[in-house]
Amino acid sequence: MQTSHPGGLYLLFATEMWERFSYYGNRALLALFMLSALSFDKQFTAALYGQYTGLVFLTPLIGGYIADRFWGNRRSIMVGGGLMAAGQYCLFASGSFYTQLDIAIPFFYLGLGLIILGNGLFKPNISTLVGQLYAPQDKRKDAAYTIFYMGINLGSFFAPLICGTLGDTGDPADFRWGFFTAGTGMLIAMLVFGYFQKKYLVDPLGNQIGMAPEARTKAQTQRRNAPLTRVDYDRMLVIGVISFFVIFFWAAFEQAGVSLTFFANENLDRELFGWTVPTSWFQALNPIFVLVFAPIFAQFWVKLAKKDLEPASPTKMGLGLLLLSAGFLIIALGVKQVAPGIKLSMMWLIAMYWLHSMGELCLSPIGLSLVNKLSPAKFASLLMGVWFLSTAAANWFAGILAGFYPETGKPTPNFLGWPIATLNDFFMLFVIMSFVAGALLLLSTKLLQQRMHGVN
Ligand code: PHE
Repeated sequence: MQTSHPGGLYLLFATEMWERFSYYGNRALLALFMLSALSFDKQFTAALYGQYTGLVFLTPLIGGYIADRFWGNRRSIMVGGGLMAAGQYCLFASGSFYTQLDIAIPFFYLGLGLIILGNGLFKPNISTLVGQLYAPQDKRKDAAYTIFYMGINLGSFFAPLICGTLGDTGDPADFRWGFFTAGTGMLIAMLVFGYFQKKYLVDPLGNQIGMAPEARTKAQTQRRNAPLTRVDYDRMLVIGVISFFVIFFWAAFEQAGVSLTFFANENLDRELFGWTVPTSWFQALNPIFVLVFAPIFAQFWVKLAKKDLEPASPTKMGLGLLLLSAGFLIIALGVKQVAPGIKLSMMWLIAMYWLHSMGELCLSPIGLSLVNKLSPAKFASLLMGVWFLSTAAANWFAGILAGFYPETGKPTPNFLGWPIATLNDFFMLFVIMSFVAGALLLLSTKLLQQRMHGVN
């Protein structure tokens, strides 16, 4: 079996790295910009931020459909990239006029709207292309998506450092430079993609991939026009079931930005050699862990595949949920030490984020790969949109779950008849939720595999 990867993978890696740089660079500044430049209040800011991040993962359904039916992946990516860049520059304009809210606010909403639409055209389509570089049942796909995932995290890691530093200086007039840089990152993504696509976006036979209907080869068109079979329906059902399970993964995982941040802020001993580690820095742990461990995982899957020992994708994803559960168990045990005046060592949270990142590597790139392997050619990008839709649902659910975070002086919230009185109760909620979801997924692997018809 061949273990090296086609050049196209590195093109998609670089493109997605710059796009995520743009997206996360913007996201690092967004809430701060709303509060201190546009003078929105906290509640409104939180609500708008939640709606924005939710909508961003709703539009991939439309973007996937447009690519499959009309534009192909390439054109959708270029148009989506253009819209996202335009959106970032609208925010740049908004930031430039922040003293005149009647100009700044329309630009602000226009910018967010463009990014939401652009992301819908970009994200599912770049993700679909990764798998098209390989023959349908090529064993290297899981490893390829894991490498692609490194690109995502490389961009996500540098984005807050660069855009955050340029934009968040304490002077509201500087936000615009963060948005400007994010827009420029997006333009770099488009330049790289536009320039190299013809050379590198080819399947193993040398045919161009990601083309619009009129430019597809005869064989490609035939594959896409083939009527759906029983096998196709079975496989699409599996995509639906798996997408449902991952809602629980992301709903717990996304606590990183909410409840786990409150926790780090209030109950963690962040003193290090007489210096206090900023709470926001803990958000850098996840991309770093992913970057360091992704190549190890990629090699590991290929090695197991060579020995015919590679677990089925649903098994890997089930393990991902169990790792997430183990991470929350660590923090649930740790908080038992928290008492008035006693804070928890940072090591507990770091260990938790490590386990969460290992879980993510078992679940997220593997899920992208699985969706690619299971999709009939006709709906390849649309079904990728379905996969991202579960992220939208999960983010919404994550917000609801975070609402159970116990606060002293407030009445004890009740989750399905279970009182959440302490931090331990709260974190145990996630231990149980992800454990049950993981165990169910592992138990149903055999059943799912039957409906996957040979896909692994
Ligand atoms: N870091 C991932 C990304 O930006 C997070 C994510 C996972 C987003 C799954 C959507 C779906 O791509």
